[in-house]
Amino acid sequence: MPGWLKDAVFYEIYPQSYCDSNSDGIGDFQGIITKLDYIKSLGCNALWINPCFDSPFRDAGYDVRDYKKAADRYGTNEDLIRLFQEAHARGIHVLLDLVPGHTSEEHEWFQKSCALERNEYSDRFIWTDYCFRGTGNMGYPYVGGEAERPGTYLLNFFKCQPALNYGWLHADENWKCTVDSEAARSTIEAIKDVMRFWMDRGCDGFRVDMASSLVKGDDEKKTGTSRIWREIRNMLDQDYPECALVSEWSNPSLSLRAGFHADFVLNEPNSPYSTLVRDYQNHAGRIIHSDPCFTGADPECAAEYEDHSFFKMDAGGDITCFMDWYLERYQDTKDIGYMSLITCNHDTVRPSFNLSERELKLFYAFLFTMPGVPFLYYGDEIGQRYQNLRTKEGGYFRTGSRTPMQWSREKNLGFSDADAACLYLPVDPAQDAPVVSEMMQDADSLLGTVRSILALRHKEEDLQGQPNLEVLYQKKGELPFVYRRGNRICAVNPSSKTVSAPIDAEDRKPVWQVGAGNLKDGVLTLKPQSFIIL
Ligand code: NOJ
Repeated sequence: MPGWLKDAVFYEIYPQSYCDSNSDGIGDFQGIITKLDYIKSLGCNALWINPCFDSPFRDAGYDVRDYKKAADRYGTNEDLIRLFQEAHARGIHVLLDLVPGHTSEEHEWFQKSCALERNEYSDRFIWTDYCFRGTGNMGYPYVGGEAERPGTYLLNFFKCQPALNYGWLHADENWKCTVDSEAARSTIEAIKDVMRFWMDRGCDGFRVDMASSLVKGDDEKKTGTSRIWREIRNMLDQDYPECALVSEWSNPSLSLRAGFHADFVLNEPNSPYSTLVRDYQNHAGRIIHSDPCFTGADPECAAEYEDHSFFKMDAGGDITCFMDWYLERYQDTKDIGYMSLITCNHDTVRPSFNLSERELKLFYAFLFTMPGVPFLYYGDEIGQRYQNLRTKEGGYFRTGSRTPMQWSREKNLGFSDADAACLYLPVDPAQDAPVVSEMMQDADSLLGTVRSILALRHKEEDLQGQPNLEVLYQKKGELPFVYRRGNRICAVNPSSKTVSAPIDAEDRKPVWQVGAGNLKDGVLTLKPQSFIIL
C-alpha cells in the first residue's frame, strides 16, 4: 500500500475545462500547472486527470487512439511530464486515467485487427467467427458489417469503443479465447507496457476505467478479471511500490481483493451513494440512477419525483440507506484498502443541482471526515452549477457537469481568453455564477469550508484514511447521525429542527463547526443544519 494514500485528498480535473493557457478555448496541461498552488491551498494533495491521450474524443477521451501520446489539445508528452514534476514539487501526486477495457476504433491495434489477413493484432479485440454472429444473447453489444474481416466485434461501451481481448472465463465456442491464451496474454502485457511507460515518466498511479470489464463471461465474483488485476498489482508492487491503483468498480469487496488500493463508491444501481444527495422517489419507490430524469436535471421528468436526499433539509432522508450498505463493505475491506467517497464526477449531475450552499457544506464535511480516500470534483468546491446543455463529445446529460471552471469575474469567468463562441463549452451565464476569486476572500463560503475541513483532516491523523470509524448514533428516520473517528466525534443534522441524542462520552465543545452544537451531560445537541466535530 503506497503510504501517501493515507492522507490523500484527490482533486478530479476534467482537462478540457480547467484552465486554458493558450487561448484556444480548451484547457491544457500548462493551465493546470498554473493552478497547482490553488489546488494545494484547497487541501488537495493528489490529482486524477481524466484521459488526456490522443483520441478522436467521441467519448471525451475515453476512446484512446494512442495510449502513449498526450492529446495535442492539451500539450505534448513533455508538458505532461512537466506537470508531474511541478505537482511533485508541491507535494501533489498525479493519477492518470487508464482505460484498459477498450480503445478507440481509430487505434492502430483495432485498425489492424479489422484486416482480412491475419496479423499481430487479429486477436487483440474480441471477434466472432462469422459476419452474422450476434453476441446480444450473451449480454454483449456488437458491431458487424464494418470490417473486411468476416466477423463481428464486441463493444465495451459506445460504438466507438471496441472491447480489448482479455479472454473469456469459459471459452465454450471456438472463437472465444481463454484468459491464459496467447491473445489474452498479449493484451495484458500491452496494458502493463502502457502503465510502465507513464510510471517511468513520473506519474503516481492510475484511476482505472471500468476496471471490472476485462474478462468476458466472467462469474459473479469476477474471478477472471480479478486474476489479471492481481497480476498487474504484483508487477507494480515489485517495480513501482508507490504506484496507486483506484478502481471504477463500486464493489470494494471484489476490487480491493483484486489488488486495487481504493475503489469508488458511485451512484451505480447497486450502491445507495445517491441516497445521500440525489434520492429521487415517486409512488413506485426509490430510483437510483444517474439519468437526468431521475436526478431531476430534466424538469419535465423531475416533476414526477420527490427529492428525499439525506443532506436535503427536511426531505425525510434516511442515513441508514447509505450507512447499512457502507458499513457492511467497510467491515469486510477496512484492513485491505480504502473506499473512495466523491463529491461528484464527470459522469454525474453536480450536487449543487438540488442542494443549497449550506446543504453542500454538510455533505462535504461528512465526506471529508469519513475514512478512506476522498475525491473532490473540480468546481464542486465553489458549488459550480449544472448546466442544461446539448451533448458534447459523447457527454449527453453529463455535459452539464463538465463546463469551464469559474475562476473570476474576468472574461469567460477567467477560464480562457478566447472568444466565448470558441470555448469548449460555455461558461455559466448566470450573473451570480460562483467564482473562486470572490469565495477565496470569505472564510464562511463553501470554498472556505472546504479549505478549513481539509486543513483539519491533514492536521489530525484520526480524521484521515485509516479504518477507525465507529458509529455512535444512527437510527432509521432519526437525527442526528453521530460517528467517532479515533479521538474525534462527528455529528450531522441536515434538518431545520434542533435534535439531540444520548452519547456516552465526557462533555466536549466543537473544534470545527457549521452551525452549532455540543455534548453535555451525555447528550449531544445539534442546532438546525449543523455539522460539528468534537
Ligand atoms: C466510465 C467513464 O467515467 C465514462 O466517462 C466513460 O464514458 C465510460 N467509462 C467509458 O469509458
